[in-house]
Amino acid sequence: MKTLVIGTGGREHALALALSRDPSVTEVHAAPGNPGIAAVAELHDVDPMNPTAVADLAERLGVDLVVVGPEAPLVAGVADAVRERGISCFGPSAEAAQLEGSKAFAKDVMAAAEVPTALAHVCETEAEIVAALDAFGPPYVVKDDGLAAGKGVVVTDDRAAALEHALACDRVVIEEFLDGPEVSLFAITDGTTVFPLQPAQDFKRIFDGDEGPNTGGMGAYTPLPWAPEGLVEDVLERVLQPTVDELARRGTTFSGLLYAGLALTKRGTKVIEFNARFGDPETQPLMALLDSPLGVLLKAAADGKLHETAPPRWKPGTALAVVMASAGYPESSRSGDVITGTEAAQDDAQCDVIHAGTALADGNLVTAGGRVLAVTAVGEDLDDARAKAYRGVAAISFDGAQYRTDIAAKAAAGEIRV
Ligand code: AMP
Ligand code: GLY
Repeated sequence: MKTLVIGTGGREHALALALSRDPSVTEVHAAPGNPGIAAVAELHDVDPMNPTAVADLAERLGVDLVVVGPEAPLVAGVADAVRERGISCFGPSAEAAQLEGSKAFAKDVMAAAEVPTALAHVCETEAEIVAALDAFGPPYVVKDDGLAAGKGVVVTDDRAAALEHALACDRVVIEEFLDGPEVSLFAITDGTTVFPLQPAQDFKRIFDGDEGPNTGGMGAYTPLPWAPEGLVEDVLERVLQPTVDELARRGTTFSGLLYAGLALTKRGTKVIEFNARFGDPETQPLMALLDSPLGVLLKAAADGKLHETAPPRWKPGTALAVVMASAGYPESSRSGDVITGTEAAQDDAQCDVIHAGTALADGNLVTAGGRVLAVTAVGEDLDDARAKAYRGVAAISFDGAQYRTDIAAKAAAGEIRV
């Protein structure tokens, strides 16, 4: 099977790498890709936001499966354009991707499907904003309604900061604060059958100890040794399947990757957000442990034949990714800093170095984005995976590199309580 991955980040590198390891996959193409993806795929310089250009490329290459990585092309209708050419595509339609593209739409679907989530008010005027902030009280949770690459959410005790963020959004969702550990639970679905993946945990804040602003994600690991028994079955039954069924009932069939961001609160598991694509960086450790052929699973989902396929199997052990970000992230990012040590991280520390914002300049690998790369390691347990990943991180350097030193540290110390 010939495959084409759309996107340019760490998630796309991890997916392309997993596809290249699937014996049924004969070719991996990527557009536009990055220098890391170039090691496992043939790159094509096509704008991922242009549905016609992507569909043209898929047709010209004669691929059997297109995998759309990021949310923005999905919301722009790339999957629709590919399917219109009769080519299988893993990723929801523009309409179904509104589950991520509009928080208000997601809340409406959850209400109809009786999926537990935070109480929320959708506000458009200052009076509505003020009333909602006062109704919930601190900590304030203020979310830009549209896509914001994981950075549209402010959680703060500071009412003035909450108000300022809310006023800067066109339409804003203000909601109840959910207390408790967070879990990222992904599912592959064809719109009917739902196959959950292993639970993972992501680290959103830029600094150690969950300090500083939210980012796209600074690290992740899977599985979660502290997860309550039955978590996956419970979320499948109460969150994933009802959401997929509700979207099908509305005629907005969701096929692709349904990402449930969950909080395990004292009053049960609740949805923080849905995304319509694989999470980044959670995909890096998940792909490191996936023991099933990825191409087979994604093609079956794209073709509505998931029920004919075996559910995903997992290798034993733990996988962990530590993101290295460029100077200035998340407010800005610095480009052009020379990156050294990626071979040592791979060959000596036995890590996968998954590229996100990298580029080649004058024969050097350089930074070219906020999150630069994710050092991903597999170990027997969390301590082992942490030690390996941080050996890989220590081998890599670039000016201004930022990374967290505490990815999965609490979990490894047994300090996460549900
Ligand atoms: P989102 O973009 O919706 O994933 O939000 C980013 C991050 O903000 C989440 O991963 C949480 O850490 C935090 N967050 C979002 N909504 C809530 C909430 N209702 N209560 C507590 N934290 C939240
Ligand atoms: N890991 C967070 C995200 O992909 O949105």
